[in-house]
Amino acid sequence: MRPVFEKRGVSKPLTRMSSAIKSDRALPLDLLRFLTRERHRIHLVGVAGSGMSGIAALLIELGHTVSGSDKVSTTETERLQRLGLRFHEQHRAEVADAADLIVFSSAIRSDNPILVDARDWGKPTVRRAEALAAIMRSKRGIVIAGMHGKTTTSAMTAHALREGGLHPSHYVGAEIPILGTNAHWDPRGEYFVAEGDESDGTVALFEPEHTLILNIEEEHLDFYADLAAIEKVFGQLIAQTTGKVFYNIEDENAARVCRSFTRRISYGFADEADYRAVDIRLKDFTSTFRVNHRGQEIGEAVLNVPGQHNVHNALGVIALASELGIGFEKIAKSLAKFEHARRRFEIKYDSPRFLLVDDYGHHPTEIRATLKTARSVGRKRVLTMFQPHRYSRTKALRKEFGRAFDDAERVVVTDVYGSNEAPIPGVTGQMIVDEIATHGHRSVSYEPCLERVHRVVANMLESGDLVLSVGAGNIHEQLSVLAADLVIAEKLKAIVGEDGDVRLYEPLSKHTTLRVGGPAQFWVEPRDEQAFAKLIRFCRNENLQLFVIGRGSNLLVRDGGIRGVVVHPCGGNFDKIEINGAEITAGVGAKLKEVAYGAKAAGIGGLEWMEGIPGAVGGGLRMNAGAMGAQTFENIVRVRYLDADGEAYTKTRDELEVYYRNFPLLEKNFAVSAVFRGQPAPLEEIVRKLEASQEKRRTSQPAAKSAGCIFKNPDSCPAGKLVDELGLKNSRVGKARVSDVHGNFIVNDGGATAAEMLELIEMVKATALARRGIELETEVQIVGEPA
Ligand code: EPU
Repeated sequence: MRPVFEKRGVSKPLTRMSSAIKSDRALPLDLLRFLTRERHRIHLVGVAGSGMSGIAALLIELGHTVSGSDKVSTTETERLQRLGLRFHEQHRAEVADAADLIVFSSAIRSDNPILVDARDWGKPTVRRAEALAAIMRSKRGIVIAGMHGKTTTSAMTAHALREGGLHPSHYVGAEIPILGTNAHWDPRGEYFVAEGDESDGTVALFEPEHTLILNIEEEHLDFYADLAAIEKVFGQLIAQTTGKVFYNIEDENAARVCRSFTRRISYGFADEADYRAVDIRLKDFTSTFRVNHRGQEIGEAVLNVPGQHNVHNALGVIALASELGIGFEKIAKSLAKFEHARRRFEIKYDSPRFLLVDDYGHHPTEIRATLKTARSVGRKRVLTMFQPHRYSRTKALRKEFGRAFDDAERVVVTDVYGSNEAPIPGVTGQMIVDEIATHGHRSVSYEPCLERVHRVVANMLESGDLVLSVGAGNIHEQLSVLAADLVIAEKLKAIVGEDGDVRLYEPLSKHTTLRVGGPAQFWVEPRDEQAFAKLIRFCRNENLQLFVIGRGSNLLVRDGGIRGVVVHPCGGNFDKIEINGAEITAGVGAKLKEVAYGAKAAGIGGLEWMEGIPGAVGGGLRMNAGAMGAQTFENIVRVRYLDADGEAYTKTRDELEVYYRNFPLLEKNFAVSAVFRGQPAPLEEIVRKLEASQEKRRTSQPAAKSAGCIFKNPDSCPAGKLVDELGLKNSRVGKARVSDVHGNFIVNDGGATAAEMLELIEMVKATALARRGIELETEVQIVGEPA
């Protein structure tokens, strides 16, 4: 049907065997020539991967017609499309029909339809590293290899060579702002700097002129049997290096592997290092150090990426660039300008109160180094959110992970990011939590739901904290959500000032008498009317939803919580009660019970019924709450409120429209205070009425956690009586139960969810309608989003 490859053919098969690549049944191919001296149609399978996208960029710059497929599109594939990539968001064989060569990622399985089809037609297929090795052979290759710090060091090398005027081409494993892209082909220069990937052994395919070995350690134990197997691959890379090998003298394994190689150059802090850093000064995000070459000082360097491990990396770059003939001045200048790769101690948010940093670290050694750096920044505490990466690594290095978090005050671990691996039974984030706890860490917790991790960390947040996200998966997205919300939270904090309080994701179950409800995105406590007015205006301008909550006694918040700003006016005048003759002025935050007892103290009667309402003045006004046959507005003289623009008004009772359990003005306006009126009464009478109210509550209402009456009383029959008559007392859904004391109360038996409450409410309503034809209406306010 479509033997395109055979019809078109490829350029002449090769003869130079050293670079011959054979795929299953394809002809040997001179890959170096094919990729760098000729122009072809090339298809990349798995093009969205960070390594593959770099190859795509190089091939486009080399003049090939490049197509690619992946199951996801990313900003990287979009960028490449602008450069000429033909992208397909599915791996269908037809999309690679016209290609002369298929390059595939190591994450692609051998039964991928494009690979299967290519093999059927005898079309050559090569691995990413094979393509990279061939491209590199056309230039003077420099490979940066090792377990940790490759991306940073290869980016730093390419940058130093570029600043040194050598026009290097480069290929590194991540987006590097200072280099522009993760890969670039520069026809003007002789050198090609590449990050070597040791994870699948393909680093041994390289035949570079120079190699820099950062460190060698147990890693990728899904691929390697042990450390010896890893060292063997590095040994092969060194043996294939035609020029010099640079190595970190402090790394025992690297030093051992390089020992027998004669053209070796060491770097590090030790006396015997060929290139040595001395007088290292670490301060915040900057390191300053002097460099000696075989005992001779060659100058001072300033590095604007944090951490001692980066001084080490920079020293490797200094050694390499110096040996290529670049003057120290130029190297030092380039280092001072160097900016970190994305996701390497990347600052996501920085204010005097909070510092949020993301790091790609996924190996215990990297995590320890990152935490050490975080600690050295000098904030009060380090809170860490960690997402283990790959089941195989999590399992193999569990003990080391257990010991890696000593420098963090708090650790929250989420579940494993599998990458392309299938789960291994029993290997979860909990396993790492257990290891960390067994090691003796006292504050480590597990949050299996990734989307909740930022909330758990935010609930611990205190001014002065550094929050770190660590992991090679997608944990950084959680930090970004936190950073975005923190920007708003800090503005809210500026509005409410020192006295006010702002909290992120405050659980509303803490602020409702029913003890259910998800988090408030922003929980804000203003202490005065001006701050409240400013909050109203801020929310309007920023398009943020604003919800006011008092004592939360008549509130059922859904399990997903409330998005936007939840204002809880309390403290200051909001909690004050002032008595003037028979008039009592109370702020919206004052409890109705306190108004009743304040009135008693001043010898004012008529407000005793308020004793029985668990809410605050604000809620009492909003609901026109009532008990003992009385209701709020019977005692109201004036109400002061803020409108949607934050303007303050005072209205008298006769100017206000009020209904049973409803004061509509407060649907769009916000009460600040109210003036109540009673009448002078003998103390004994007040006490008697207060006691009657208490007695009524004690004998007819449950003591358990509830939101007061759930339903409004229908005209025909009190709701409690109706529920009772329907025999629904003690009906339950989960931990939500119709009280056996009073039928209009639903109680939380401990740990009930809003979903359970709502299901029970619906059940009662449906039964009342079916059996008595009565449509019950909820009195309790139901707000928020489902979980
Ligand atoms: N009743 C039953 N079975 C029950 C509950 C009540 O037969 O399980 C009967 C009572 O015996 C009484 C009638 O129903 O004859 C009314 O009950 P209750 O006197 O307890 O008053 P209510 O209308 O249920 C109202 C308020 C309460 C307030 C009390 C006491 C409403 C919706 N509820 O309850 O307010 O505490 O009066 O003054 O108006 C609240 O609004 O959240 C609240 C608790």
